[in-house]
Parts: sequence; C-alpha cells; structure tokens
Amino acid sequence: MFDFRPKLQVTIPQTGESYACAIGESLLKGMLRLGRKGIPVGCVNGGCGVCKIRILSGSTALLGPVSRAHVTAEEEAQGYTLACRVGPSTEITLEVAGKMSKPFSKGIPEQAAPPATTTK
Ligand code: FES
Repeated sequence: MFDFRPKLQVTIPQTGESYACAIGESLLKGMLRLGRKGIPVGCVNGGCGVCKIRILSGSTALLGPVSRAHVTAEEEAQGYTLACRVGPSTEITLEVAGKMSKPFSKGIPEQAAPPATTTK
C-alpha cells in the first residue's frame, strides 16, 4: 500500500543513511518502515534510551514524552532527544548519540580460531 503522507528528508551523516520520514511519524519508525539502518533500535516506546540522537539541523515535533532518565534538560537544550519520540517538522540532519552509537567497533565477538591441526 502506498503511503501518501507528506514526508521530510532525514539524514544521518555518521552512517551515510538518508530516508524520507512522514510528518507525524517518529524518526525511528520512519527508518524502520523503510527497512533502513542508522539509528539503534530498542523498545520503540521511549523506555530504553537506545535511540538517543542529537539534532544537528532542522526541527522536530514531540510525539510523546521523553524521559529525563534518558535525556536531561541540559542535553535537551543541546539538541538531544529520542528518535522514537519525535517526528520531523522540517528536513532533519542528526547524529546517533546513545550508548550504542558505536555498535560496529565494540561487542562483536571475535571468531574462534579454527582448531589447530597437527600432522605426524
Ligand atoms: S527505542 Fe527505546 S527509547 Fe527509543
């Protein structure tokens, strides 16, 4: 089914991702709807803080409460928010700022070395 809602461009320079997010749709759900990556995905409901981002340019519309446990008032003043709680009001450029902002450099278990073979 085609989605006729007006959309605004969202760009994540960190990952090179760019996608069109519908007005009234959260930045995170817009990314998920298109099967795109870039913002870490957790609960999609404001509870985990994994989707924390910083808005570099553009403005957002609040779609739900942003917990102070994840974004302090000071951080909010600096542009930090949760991607699952805000939608675009203009075109957006953002950076991933949460605890999983560098998921590709940490936490990936190294592959076990193949068993050594010995010949007699
Ligand atoms: S995905 Fe859990 S707070 Fe946004």
